[in-house]
Amino acid sequence: MSISTKTMGKQRVLSGIQPTGNLHLGNYLGAIRNWVDVQSEYENFFFVVDLHAITVPHNRATLASETYTIAALYLACGIDLNYSTIFVQSHVTAHSELTWLLNCITPLNWLERMIQFREKARKQGENVNTGLLDYPVLMASDILLYDADIVPVGEDQKQHLELTRNIASRLNEQFGNKKEPVLKLPEPLIRTAGARVMSLTDGTSKMSKSDPSDMSRINLLDPPDLINKKIKRCKTDPLKGLTFDDPSRPECDNLLTLYMLLSGKTKEAVAAECQDMGWGQFKPLLAEATIEALKPIQDKHKAIMEDKGYLDSVLREGRQKAEVIADSTLSRVKNALGYLPPS
Ligand code: TRP
Repeated sequence: MSISTKTMGKQRVLSGIQPTGNLHLGNYLGAIRNWVDVQSEYENFFFVVDLHAITVPHNRATLASETYTIAALYLACGIDLNYSTIFVQSHVTAHSELTWLLNCITPLNWLERMIQFREKARKQGENVNTGLLDYPVLMASDILLYDADIVPVGEDQKQHLELTRNIASRLNEQFGNKKEPVLKLPEPLIRTAGARVMSLTDGTSKMSKSDPSDMSRINLLDPPDLINKKIKRCKTDPLKGLTFDDPSRPECDNLLTLYMLLSGKTKEAVAAECQDMGWGQFKPLLAEATIEALKPIQDKHKAIMEDKGYLDSVLREGRQKAEVIADSTLSRVKNALGYLPPS
């Protein structure tokens, strides 16, 4: 048993998003749209990260419907089943099982050092469960199960990717042999700062699901009147004449960038169009470009959500494809650790 072979020699890309809260423009422009653009060059696995979702207090009444929503949004945003597999993390039990095995070779202090754990734990005070500490080992399992070559993530996940590589190396050193490593070390693909969409209420912080104010973000499923309202109220500055790349005007740069990405115009064209504009003239343009760009996604999302039979079949086929690879990696690891195989 060795590291799995890939379809037509293509490299394998893997990434996932948690089913908590709505996806917003940051998730779309910074992540999903980039996956869509290059998907035909790779063999892709995109999953809904629902096991990670319960590391913080979660709502049992909405978990299943939010899982459906994320899967439907993947499709609505253009993830194409000819190139990509979509599945739900909790449907493939190997994720939980490999996590246990990797837990037992991961030093505790590697996890205690994780910046995201420390920040979340500080915010949550007393209410920190073991899963929150173990979150990065589950993420390592997600990646290592599929022998992923490339893992596109945001800057905030960089440390988790390094940890994944360290866990894989440690297991390979302890239980593999030089010629045939047990686990494949993935390459992170960290989004550059330029691809970051910033908050509508503060141009220096990232647009985020966890910001308590919904006015700080545009969700992919926001209706047109809400988009208008959010853009009308968003933070700007008192200057007339709009420009990119002025560090003293972070909101201006962010809103022009959004306009550029959503309208499909070039940076030069937007710079020329907006150089003499005031906010009163620009905001309706941005609102219209946003509404236009999101309409096809919203229409497609609605149609898919109304056809649960179809969505279930996508997730069932996704699970089957994912399971073949995941189960084979799990057997490889168990074998390397010396387990008695079931007869
Ligand atoms: N932790 C990631 C995030 O918050 C989500 C995630 C979980 C993930 N498992 C993954 C991303 C595996 C890439 C690969 O963004």
